[in-house]
Amino acid sequence: MSAKREPIGVIGTGYVGLVTAVGFAELGSDVWCVDVDSEKITRLQRGEIPIYEPGLEEMLARNVERLHFSTDLAPALEHARLLFVAVGTPPTHSGDADLSAVHAVVGAMPEPDGHALVMKSTVPCGTGSNIKRIFAERGKTGYSYVSCPEFLKEGSAVADFMHPDRVVVGGEGDWAEQAVVDLYAPLDAPLVRTDVASAEMIKLAANAFLATKISFINEIANVCETLGADVGEVAQGMGLDARIGPKFLQAGIGYGGSCFTKDVSALKLLAGNSGYHFQLLNAVIEVNELQKRRVVSKLQRHLGELAGRRVALLGLAFKPNTDDMRGASSLVLASRLQAEGAQVRAFDPIAEEQARLLMPQLDYADDALGAIEDADAVVLVTEWAEFVGLDWSQVADAMKGNVVIDGRNALDPATVGAAGLVYEGIGRG
Ligand code: UGA
Repeated sequence: MSAKREPIGVIGTGYVGLVTAVGFAELGSDVWCVDVDSEKITRLQRGEIPIYEPGLEEMLARNVERLHFSTDLAPALEHARLLFVAVGTPPTHSGDADLSAVHAVVGAMPEPDGHALVMKSTVPCGTGSNIKRIFAERGKTGYSYVSCPEFLKEGSAVADFMHPDRVVVGGEGDWAEQAVVDLYAPLDAPLVRTDVASAEMIKLAANAFLATKISFINEIANVCETLGADVGEVAQGMGLDARIGPKFLQAGIGYGGSCFTKDVSALKLLAGNSGYHFQLLNAVIEVNELQKRRVVSKLQRHLGELAGRRVALLGLAFKPNTDDMRGASSLVLASRLQAEGAQVRAFDPIAEEQARLLMPQLDYADDALGAIEDADAVVLVTEWAEFVGLDWSQVADAMKGNVVIDGRNALDPATVGAAGLVYEGIGRG
């Protein structure tokens, strides 16, 4: 695509900012990216992507002439009317969203000159109207505000940007709202054009609903275990109902990642702060926490006391095709196993560097077989393709014991069993 399109600024070059920047450059916009992290900007200027996201580096390389990286806001303000805000909104100690980075951006905006802030960061419902109020109080009445939540998934972010299920644009019916709609037009996606508060709520509600779906199927899996049913069959039978749908019904050791954990808690607290007790979300969170720990009881059932036992963890990232360790179930699982006295050795093909920052004391192997060697039990934590395709006879030869816990229901029980190993999944009958 080469037609000249609206230039944009992108503030914050994390997952969302970078994919947004590179994606709009692919669609033909000149993009001015800003980040306070000078090391990150230097790497980006060299064409290096500081995160692991399949396809992103190639897309950046294709569009390098349209992408400009700086720690200075001035070039973005000079060249672009639309400033996409994609800064972090991590949870505070109270679990609310920390909006300090968002407010730093708002505070850095100069006197009115016809710019618009387009909010990509996930923020509590009501943030847009607060920002408009702050602008008004400071006499910056020339600013427009658009809420344009992002729904991309790590690991498939490039495809999600290019082929979104929908685009949500919440605005005040002004030029900025229309400009954002026009920017997305080439993607030909269903468009939800709404007010700012509703757009903010759509994002939180969507993530909370997906998390709820996962906790629901995990509870069904746990009940299947006591009743002898198979959750995979149950999920298939449920998912074929078009009202339910087959996605996000994969039972396992709980959802991880920064988004679900953060957004479910943020929505619960947002409701609580406004006087509403969101009971369902309490259960979603609790089920997820317990689900991570169930693997420990499974291991105890097979091995008895875990003290001194060797447990191999295959995979550490919160899901495959990412090096992101935020909220990963492996963090809770590894610490619980170590607390029980187990000797834990782990391998992840991509996430080891990030994992070492959070779990410096863990024993890391160079490859899957290195982790498995002499293990009493193997736990599949992240369903990387290379683990699913392991030669299980080779695994059986390398292990001291014979227990395989499939935390993602990604392995074929018959193949693992045929290698002489004892297989247990999550709710698989
Ligand atoms: C999630 C949402 O899916 C995106 O739409 C949203 O834009 C993003 O959060 C965000 O708010 O930024 P992401 O966290 O990248 O995306 O990952 P998901 O693919 O949704 O997976 C989240 C977790 O749920 C993973 O740990 C995954 O293993 C787990 N999961 C997912 C299950 O346990 N079962 C499933 O059926 C699906």
